[in-house]
Amino acid sequence: AEVVIVRDEEEAGRLASAQIAAVVGQKPDAVLGFATGSTPLSTYRALAERRLDLSAVRGFALDEYIGLPPGHPESYRAVITREVVEPLGLDPDLVRVPGDDGGPLAQAGESYERAIAEAGGVDLQILGIGRTGHIGFNEPGSSLASPTRIKTLTERTRLDNARFFDSLDDVPRHCITQGLGTILRARRLVLLAFGEAKAEAVAGAVEGPVTSSLPGSVIQLHPEVMVIVDEAAASRLA
Ligand code: F6R
Repeated sequence: AEVVIVRDEEEAGRLASAQIAAVVGQKPDAVLGFATGSTPLSTYRALAERRLDLSAVRGFALDEYIGLPPGHPESYRAVITREVVEPLGLDPDLVRVPGDDGGPLAQAGESYERAIAEAGGVDLQILGIGRTGHIGFNEPGSSLASPTRIKTLTERTRLDNARFFDSLDDVPRHCITQGLGTILRARRLVLLAFGEAKAEAVAGAVEGPVTSSLPGSVIQLHPEVMVIVDEAAASRLA
């Protein structure tokens, strides 16, 4: 991976948004993979500031919680609408979230894979990384070839995400996530991480053995990866 150490989240956002702008410049109906959480927010802000016409862009979110009441403001559908679709001027009909096809949940993974394939695959996937080393919600133990499927969140991740909810009890226990195999099929990956809490996961992902114990390490199997980190997140890199 190409590792770029930046001063702060704003600089990271500018750099990541430049990658996205380059892809969309070549292909106005590019397929983008969207992460949620805190990490990509500066990227989405910087992209919005570029005022590009993104109305033909197609998008696939990485993951979604299972079991939230419909329309819950912390569902990833709601977050993607609020943080990505509206500020960037995307066509909401062209942006998908796993499990949004209205069909049975048991088939939602397969249907999402089909939708991504029919769109021609993801051109650029934005990724954050969890303290457990997860990308998407592929927690340790996820098969390196995994497809989109239902997973159980670790307690670590539920605690980390409790900040978005009224209480820990409100954080869902299950999710549907693009698999590591799905993520690896994207043509380019841009992984961002900020802060000391991510340093160990970043070091493992970039330099550690490729192992399902640290799912982010699969990025080492991909030929086109940019890792954008601040000094703190880079602090355990050799
Ligand atoms: C979000 C996702 C997760 C997050 C990770 C980091 O769609 O798939 O892997 O990227 O949990 O979350 P933040 O950015 O909130 O630290």
